[in-house]
Amino acid sequence: MAGGFVSQTPGVRNYNYKLTPKVFVTCFIGAFGGLIFGYDLGISGGVTSMEPFLEEFFPYVHKKMKNAHENEYCRFDSQLLTLFTSSLYVAALISSLFASTITRVFGRKWSMFLGGFTFFIGSAFNGFAQNIAMLLIGRILLGFGVGFANQSVPVYLSEMAPPNLRGAFNNGFQVAIIFGIVVATIINYFTAQMKGNIGWRISLGLACVPAVMIMIGALILPDTPNSLIERGYSEEAKKMLQSIRGTDEVDEEFQDLIDASEESKQVKHPWRNILLPRYRPQLIMTCFIPFFQQLTGINVITFYAPVLFQTLGFGSKASLLSAMVTGIIELLCTFVSVFTVDRFGRRVLFLQGGIQMLISQIAIGAMIGVKFGVAGTGNIGKGDANLIVALICIYVAGFAWSWGPLGWLVPSEISPLEIRSAAQAINVSVNMFFTFLVAQLFLTMLCHMKFGLFFFFAFFVVIMTIFIYLMLPETKNVPIEEMNRVWKAHWFWGRFIPDEAVNMGAAEMQQKSV
Ligand code: BGC
Repeated sequence: MAGGFVSQTPGVRNYNYKLTPKVFVTCFIGAFGGLIFGYDLGISGGVTSMEPFLEEFFPYVHKKMKNAHENEYCRFDSQLLTLFTSSLYVAALISSLFASTITRVFGRKWSMFLGGFTFFIGSAFNGFAQNIAMLLIGRILLGFGVGFANQSVPVYLSEMAPPNLRGAFNNGFQVAIIFGIVVATIINYFTAQMKGNIGWRISLGLACVPAVMIMIGALILPDTPNSLIERGYSEEAKKMLQSIRGTDEVDEEFQDLIDASEESKQVKHPWRNILLPRYRPQLIMTCFIPFFQQLTGINVITFYAPVLFQTLGFGSKASLLSAMVTGIIELLCTFVSVFTVDRFGRRVLFLQGGIQMLISQIAIGAMIGVKFGVAGTGNIGKGDANLIVALICIYVAGFAWSWGPLGWLVPSEISPLEIRSAAQAINVSVNMFFTFLVAQLFLTMLCHMKFGLFFFFAFFVVIMTIFIYLMLPETKNVPIEEMNRVWKAHWFWGRFIPDEAVNMGAAEMQQKSV
């Protein structure tokens, strides 16, 4: 899930609750939060492969694209073109750093509203763009919107959800992101067939739809009980909890929320805490998991599948269709993770998914290498091109049930309260930074590394699979309070965990930390 969830130990307590309509409405709004991110991820690749768009803003790339003698690997190589895609992620990185303060001080809903609002303005800039500056300003505004939404929507959802459904909500957010990607590829498929400039304008402008939905949602929806308590409205918080849980008997959960709020007020130095040796496993995991997630190379497919397919010699329409197919496969396979992650565990999915991605990447690299060679000239037959699309689908499926959702779930479920905010911020920013780098560098890397680029990502998949095998203990069904026991028993991390930490709660650890 983009932005990550603060998973709070489901199953430790069994509070009273009914599944009320209010909770379902929050699910729906949550889905729009994921959609706006997914829509961005999915729309830019298709748009950058549309000829009228390239002709209007990047005539130099368009000329190269049309040149029959051009090296296939370098057809789309342009820093300015990639900046169109990547600028959004720098803005998202920056805004996610200060969005947490706005979310805390003004409540989740105003942060969501602000996210929707900047996103709306961004989509207008893009839809009516007359020059590259307008395009980039639009993308940056969209990025701010994504940063705010990714920060506030998951927090909102996890606080509204009944505690034992938090895990499902977490993966549900990733499903929503991929759904956004699929919607974007379908829209691109149709708009690409329109004549003139109208097609890409519709594709970019339609981002305003989820933006309006999230703005309206933020205005209608109530604040979460946690946020009300945090801002001193305890009475209102209790009433709210009763109404969303559909029962008056909420005393136990309410008391826990008050306690949690008190405890979190005492957490003064999450950034200092996380640097202490006993949090070394969490620090390393929250840096490396998002880094590795991006180094799987998934966003090469997310952003540039249509461009990649054109590079393989597909026509514009066939490229967009193939991108749509890979998106749908990714969506379906994400459900596999939703239903198996708590049964088979994280490690099995990480390791199986890694091996599947590795084999398909090597096969893709080898096939492209054989067909286009180092010179990047040549033709690929229909059968071979279809085989490459099939291999890409196998690769995407492997990612969808492993590094996709787990890349967000694991960092959020291993961090205890005294370091949670710092861990979340590190996780989101590292992810956004490497998303930016891949988006910015991919087309140049393809031009220079040629088919070797697939081996480059395959190399990292080997490293990350070994990393998981050796360094990540199974965290399935482990309550956060018990997590230290798991690290302590681990062959490597055990040495960092003091014996007394094994049975300590957040407050005690916090006191020890300061
Ligand atoms: C990743 C994104 C990726 C998306 C869809 C998310 O988990 O963080 O970078 O685009 O999955 O594949």
